[in-house]
Amino acid sequence: METAASINRKVTPQDFLLKKQKGVPLTMLTAYDYPTALAVDRAGIDSILVGDSLGMVVLGYDTTLPVTMDEMIHHAKAAARGAKRALLIGDLPFLSYQTSVEEALRNAGRFIKEAQMDAIKLEGGQEQISKIKAILDAGIPVVGHLGLTPQSVRKFGGWKTQGKTAQAALKILRDAEALEEAGCFALVLESIPSRLAALISRKLRIPTIGIGAGNACDGQVLVTHDMLGLFDRFTPKFVRRYANLYGEIEKALQVYKKEVQERSFPQEQHSFAMPDEEWKKFNANSQNHRRIKSLAR
Ligand code: KIV
Repeated sequence: METAASINRKVTPQDFLLKKQKGVPLTMLTAYDYPTALAVDRAGIDSILVGDSLGMVVLGYDTTLPVTMDEMIHHAKAAARGAKRALLIGDLPFLSYQTSVEEALRNAGRFIKEAQMDAIKLEGGQEQISKIKAILDAGIPVVGHLGLTPQSVRKFGGWKTQGKTAQAALKILRDAEALEEAGCFALVLESIPSRLAALISRKLRIPTIGIGAGNACDGQVLVTHDMLGLFDRFTPKFVRRYANLYGEIEKALQVYKKEVQERSFPQEQHSFAMPDEEWKKFNANSQNHRRIKSLAR
């Protein structure tokens, strides 16, 4: 099968739809900097999300709410430099699109013009349709995001799985249909019951990308810092840790500290030599220099 990876070109929103039609699972990971984006891109992951989760795992905020558009652009630019193939999605942060259609369009446009993103993502359902349509009208592909949308954590009263009652599940389904109807090319489903995510995935033509939404979604996304074990503060139940890099970093830092303190680092191979002849000349010159200085005193 021809994939974007095998033909070595940029993944497009159309590839997302094709993969869903062919039943090939989509892969997505977050990246907020050049080296991570490079690694994710080289691994052949379909899409890089420059998520506002960077506020929590990189900037040290307790939630994603304080993240600004300028912070997003700064990180998106760095990630874009590392990604040649993966579809780049810029995540609109809190209050960069909720306030008006004009703000939404302006900020979505900044991701494309200033940070070379290929698409944007925003959170919310039917209440965001006017903004989504305006962004699409400007030619910018849009990804939706429903379920435990972190920008609404205050409204939810914490990091709680959504859609667990019949009424809440119906609202998520209606929102998902509205987002598809509005023209989103993919939909992130976060922390909702697996059977609800499976049903939405079956009903929609566009692919669903799950995070804590079970195995029946058309693709999966994780926060790279979580799956690599780089973020030690809090790991949601839905994360699988594929590595424990934080532990590795801690070990390496301790060894470095010990080696510097006991002078076993740096060694010969980390140091630079000077030819003996030059060293002799240098010593002779510096001694002459000292003598001249003491005579002048
Ligand atoms: O900001 C982010 O990383 C996200 C993912 C969790 C989907 O929105």
